Amino acid sequence: MAKKIGVITSGGDAPGMNAAVRAVVRQGIFFGYQMIGIKRGFKGLLDDEFVTLTLRSVSGIINMGGTMLHTGRCPETKTKTGMGRAVKAIKEIGLEGLIIIGGDGSLAAGNVLSKYGVKVINIAASIDNDIYGTDETIGYDTALNTAVEAIDKIRDTAKSHDRVFVVEIMGREHGFLTVDVGLAAGCEFIVVPEMKVDMQKLAAELKKGKDKGKTSEIIAFAEGCGLSGDFAKKVGKLTGLEVRVSNLGYIQRGGRPTARTRILASKFGYTAMDLFHKGKTNLLVGITDGAVSAIPIHKAVKYEKKFDVQTVKVLRSLSV
Ligand code: F6P
Repeated sequence: MAKKIGVITSGGDAPGMNAAVRAVVRQGIFFGYQMIGIKRGFKGLLDDEFVTLTLRSVSGIINMGGTMLHTGRCPETKTKTGMGRAVKAIKEIGLEGLIIIGGDGSLAAGNVLSKYGVKVINIAASIDNDIYGTDETIGYDTALNTAVEAIDKIRDTAKSHDRVFVVEIMGREHGFLTVDVGLAAGCEFIVVPEMKVDMQKLAAELKKGKDKGKTSEIIAFAEGCGLSGDFAKKVGKLTGLEVRVSNLGYIQRGGRPTARTRILASKFGYTAMDLFHKGKTNLLVGITDGAVSAIPIHKAVKYEKKFDVQTVKVLRSLSV
């Protein structure tokens, strides 16, 4: 009888998760495994929501956003009882191992499962790009492009009204997405949790921008920095300029994955099954210096990804 491998998408969905599921399933079947999809993230594992995945059940999904397996936040994964139940479920279904596609919460769950003796491979997927051990996560490039396209549109209205815009960008408590969105959209400033803001200086710079003939100024504001509405009011008060807020919200999580996202997802999924088949488990699959890479999960959860201050310098130098 073929050995069973589980595949799960968990936490916030990210474009490209489907492409990763497709790659994992097809490569798993190539190696002779029976591939079992677990629905709705870890909640589905606890609630026995399983489906056998075939070559055909992952047809036509490479270009689709979201996740065909569905996903969810599962607070039980943060408890000993919950994880105990998860291990029990894995044993009951007879899974040889588990491929987890998701972000930092999924990584933490993978780490605990591996300590319980489950053979795990995590695949880095999150729009936040905040995982140590990978230069890029699945879904990040798509979210980046979605946000940049949105800001290009905001720029049109900002220019027409001579307004300042504060654009709120997702990323939980990190500014990885915000800083790249800011640079790519030609924003004047970024506000991220990793760097302190001097409000007086920011206000002075915004006013200087007006004096230099700027008809619009855009501040890319990471959600982890608090309420963008309060921040915008402060900016308005300090500058006397007309300020508006736009929260890009969940549009950043949806949409057709970009080619870059699909390529990463396909390579990560393929590599995850390849490593598993070679008996190499308890790893996080990502990309480092242009090549697909894998580091131990326990290392990936231990360290924080470094924020690139240089990008902020470039943005500031060019937004004159
Ligand atoms: O991790 C992805 C993300 O979209 C974060 O950027 C955001 O803070 C969070 O998920 C929102 O979570 P939820 O989907 O539970 O509202």
